[in-house]
Amino acid sequence: MPATSVAEHRAQACAKLIRQVHAITAHEGINPSTLHAIKLKLAALAKRAELFPGADFAAPVAQGRNHPLLVEDNDGLGLYLTINLPGKEAAPHDHGIWCVNAGISGSERHVFYRRTDDAGTPGRATVVRLGEVIVAPGTGMAMADHDIHSTEVIGTEPAIGLALYGYALVRFPSVAWYHPELGSTRATASRRLAALA
Ligand SMILES: [Fe+2]
Repeated sequence: MPATSVAEHRAQACAKLIRQVHAITAHEGINPSTLHAIKLKLAALAKRAELFPGADFAAPVAQGRNHPLLVEDNDGLGLYLTINLPGKEAAPHDHGIWCVNAGISGSERHVFYRRTDDAGTPGRATVVRLGEVIVAPGTGMAMADHDIHSTEVIGTEPAIGLALYGYALVRFPSVAWYHPELGSTRATASRRLAALA
């Protein structure tokens, strides 16, 4: 009988994680406590670096790249392996959907912000910096639907990690971007209507 391949072990481990996530959210849904529990599960999976060998995941040509690991049908969850190259950064934004990250190798700084205006003026928004979390092997971060973060790869190694989103990336809602110094905001188009059509 052929030995089970790394890809098969990985697929089994990812399927197990998704089952665990559904078990966690089945009764309570998504809240700070369940997001924390999901983060711990994702960090435990990310620590099994032998399941995610570099040879199985092509590096991005520039900036970053997402490799789908397990994307559920319909409006289900999306689990990805993300590779972000040194120097990649993203301005403050919210995804409109919850997200949990965990590090496999390298490190990425996530700075969190809170919106402080009443959203009464189109294109305007004020945000204040709350603090930061470094996502590296053994650690992770969790965001609720409208939490705001910025990201920056630290050091000279790519930041490789796992990312779990409440929706698959192809079904993402509008992402809102914020400019703290200018007090402005802009939104990208939602992919949800096209994906659900
Ligand atoms: Fe993000």
